[in-house]
Amino acid sequence: MTFLITAGPTREPIDPVRYLSNHSSGKMGYAIAAAAAKKGHRVILISGPTILNVPSGCDLIPVETAADMSQAVGNWISRVDVAIMAAAVADFRPVEYQTQKIKKTTETDMMTLELIKNPDILAEARSIHGYGGLLVGFAAETENVLHNAREKLNRKKCDLILANDVSQPNEGFNSDQNTITAVYPDKEVELGSHSKTHLGALILELCEDFVRR
Ligand code: PMT
Repeated sequence: MTFLITAGPTREPIDPVRYLSNHSSGKMGYAIAAAAAKKGHRVILISGPTILNVPSGCDLIPVETAADMSQAVGNWISRVDVAIMAAAVADFRPVEYQTQKIKKTTETDMMTLELIKNPDILAEARSIHGYGGLLVGFAAETENVLHNAREKLNRKKCDLILANDVSQPNEGFNSDQNTITAVYPDKEVELGSHSKTHLGALILELCEDFVRR
């Protein structure tokens, strides 16, 4: 099968030296990509900036902003059997990019940055691209984890959402460990707390089982 996997953060530039981003390291998405390539699947890995090595056998498409990631996903999604969106896409970007470095002034201690919503790449898979393959999203939550994950499953028209509680120290963003519950339309399955490498293999198995059904 062909897998499309998004991973890592996006960076939304403010001026030539600053950007908005988040703590995603890319480890979760890269672990799934590595597991899929190891099993002989073709993997298109669309990744924001990370320091990770590209897993053997994966085709990397490096991107920077949510708009870049949205375009790359749009180019590929009609050609894949499974799409897994593990990237932490910035929900907002600055309305205007300042071409010169923003200077401090002596007149005020306040600064206001106007932001505008980025495209929701996961939701666009069905709503804009009419994607008919297996669609898997993540939900990074700090409260009401399963309730919020199920709301994302329905709103973004996913087949499966992988819910992680990112309020726990040493779990989720920028760590080697994660705790995941797989949320399906009709049930929930706890994958438990494991290394991201192990969870990558478990998530791959869930996807293979889903497609075989
Ligand atoms: O990269 P690591 O350090 O290994 O950390 C892993 C992780 C915590 C980033 C990963 O497990 C994870 O939860 N990824 C999704 C993070 C996130 O942005 O979640 P969300 O609940 O805000 O978004 C829900 C889903 O919509 C996600 O599949 C996300 O990729 C997608 N999304 C969100 C916003 C947006 N504008 N476009 C999207 O496609």
